[in-house]
Amino acid sequence: MSGFSAEWLALREPIDHSARSEEILAGVTGWYAQDDTLKITDIGSGTGSTLRALKPVLSQKLIWHLVDNDDALLEVAKAEAQGDQVNFSHADLSKSLDALFLHQPDLITTSAFLDLVSEEWLEEMVKEITKRKIPFYAALTYDGRAGCDPSLGTDEKILDAFNKHQKTDKGFGLALGPEAANTAITLFEEAGYQVNVAKSDWVGKSNRKAFQRMLLQGWRDAAIEITPSSNTLFNEWLLERLNLIENSNASLFVGHKDIFAVPV
Ligand SMILES: C[S@@+](CC[C@H](N)C(=O)[O-])C[C@H]1O[C@@H](n2cnc3c(N)ncnc32)[C@H](O)[C@@H]1O
Repeated sequence: MSGFSAEWLALREPIDHSARSEEILAGVTGWYAQDDTLKITDIGSGTGSTLRALKPVLSQKLIWHLVDNDDALLEVAKAEAQGDQVNFSHADLSKSLDALFLHQPDLITTSAFLDLVSEEWLEEMVKEITKRKIPFYAALTYDGRAGCDPSLGTDEKILDAFNKHQKTDKGFGLALGPEAANTAITLFEEAGYQVNVAKSDWVGKSNRKAFQRMLLQGWRDAAIEITPSSNTLFNEWLLERLNLIENSNASLFVGHKDIFAVPV
């Protein structure tokens, strides 16, 4: 178990897919326009959201390799990928990067994963990828911006605590959290890659009530972990927010970045 439930990933997926930057996706499809076959390794794959996002826009024969350390999510990925050519690896990426290169990928992808890793881990990953001159597409890396409409007095306190929580250890050492995308861009550029970057913000509209509820419960839980003494305040905030979700047009946004890094 990684702490990311299949239920949460399924709630996010339509919002993830419409948030992905079309400009960055066009960069990915354009880069491989001349290829007939494409081997793609997706790290921190969860249930295979990146496979389902890329499949409709890539016309090549696709051979996938999905890597995750959560068996329950990989089982869902297997069930979802009937008819696709997919290899699966259960691997703890904090321990070894071997799984990234096991199937000689033409492209390494990830989504909603880089913000979990530490600077040291990212340095090592970039070193190993750039050494082999493999392009890298990372979608939906949280960048520290978030907000709700209508706003409430406690929002800032919650978001401040949430962003602190983003930098706690998620299994790779202290996480980069909101710094992850910019750190990845710098590291790839220093290694001689060209990096395209674009925003891929989530927009949770009022018709996405279950998504909003689960996201805000996550913010509340994270904020209480950072500031336990504000427990009552944060629980009251959540109750008010849940009421707004149910009874008004409350919406929210979360800032992300997509990057596509290629060897030049
Ligand atoms: C936020 S989820 C994103 C999943 C998927 N990429 C998506 O966009 O739906 C982060 C994923 O990273 C995986 N993960 C976390 N730590 C990991 C580790 N040490 N090794 C491999 N995968 C890991 C989790 O199991 C989870 O599937």
